Amino acid sequence: MARPLIARIDLAALAHNLGVAKAAAPHSKVLAVVKANGYGHGLTRVARALRAADGFAVLSVDEAAQLRGEGYTHPIVLLEGFFHPDELPEIAHLRLRPVIHREDQAAILARTHLEHRIDVLLKIDTGMHRLGLRPARVAEVLATLRAAPQIGSITLMTHFACADDPAVGVAAQLAVFREAAGDSKLPTTLANSAALLRYPETHADWVRPGIMLYGVSPFSGTIGADLGLLPVMTLESRLIAVQRIKKGEAVGYGASFVAERDMSIGTVACGYADGYPRHAGTGTPIRVEGQLTRTLGRVSMDMLCVDLTPIPNAHVGSPATLWGADLPAEHVAEHAGTIAYELLTALAPRVRVEEV
Ligand SMILES: Cc1ncc(COP(=O)(O)O)c(C=O)c1O
Repeated sequence: MARPLIARIDLAALAHNLGVAKAAAPHSKVLAVVKANGYGHGLTRVARALRAADGFAVLSVDEAAQLRGEGYTHPIVLLEGFFHPDELPEIAHLRLRPVIHREDQAAILARTHLEHRIDVLLKIDTGMHRLGLRPARVAEVLATLRAAPQIGSITLMTHFACADDPAVGVAAQLAVFREAAGDSKLPTTLANSAALLRYPETHADWVRPGIMLYGVSPFSGTIGADLGLLPVMTLESRLIAVQRIKKGEAVGYGASFVAERDMSIGTVACGYADGYPRHAGTGTPIRVEGQLTRTLGRVSMDMLCVDLTPIPNAHVGSPATLWGADLPAEHVAEHAGTIAYELLTALAPRVRVEEV
């Protein structure tokens, strides 16, 4: 038998979660964010399950070309635009929609001959200070774009830094955006998953959900199920060793866990080279034979150890769930001092994937 680690991807759950997004923002079109290999779930697989979305958002021309190669005719947005002007002919050829987030990108576009017009998004920095034009520069850049024969439609865009944090929210950024957009009457896109779910005033023409489509809550302290979402990825493996250790014996690298009494432990075929977070310390939840238990000691490259005290019937070959159905990735992430986004997108290429 092959190494037992497997990521099961529930395509029906993806479609369900898209339905939740559509129901929450019924008057907006949905730009499904499928960058980072569909948040680790597989780009083309995810696109197939989300084909009822109105468009896709990716990072690179390569990802977009893969989608076009699979026959998708949806609008495809390049969230960071073009990295070099030499990408523009292919962007036009594939009818992609680059985000323009720097003034020089607008100027380059305006002087580049393209085989036909392209639609673009103009990103305004309303307070996150990561990408986008300063609001004061928007009018002039818009004028440049509007005057350029190679530009088709223009959609205004911003991104919220704290939509998941009720203490900050989106109000300040939304006010800056409205002021910058003025009376341009252009279509707009503002909302990530958190804004989509919490702030209807951000829905606008297009919403841009990512993480919620994969069944994960964008809000700390909650899980996808609290929002009616279904987990998409379940990471499963099996015990490849079981042993009794004595009080005082240590487990794993650095001997960071020392048994306080005689106990049974198991070794699961999954480690940080599979994408399991190395920073998940002793006590991270894991299921063995369906029973909730905890990890012990440091995560190794290919293995991790678990406490079998509550599972006396566990044996070599017993199934283990690292996260997914019955074990929210959000909880594992919390124990590892990270967010579920990182767990999902870090799934290693060596992990077998099966669609369910
Ligand atoms: C510009 C932009 N829009 C939308 C999203 C989707 O965000 P989320 O996954 O939180 O829904 C992202 C994700 O990073 C993004 O960078």
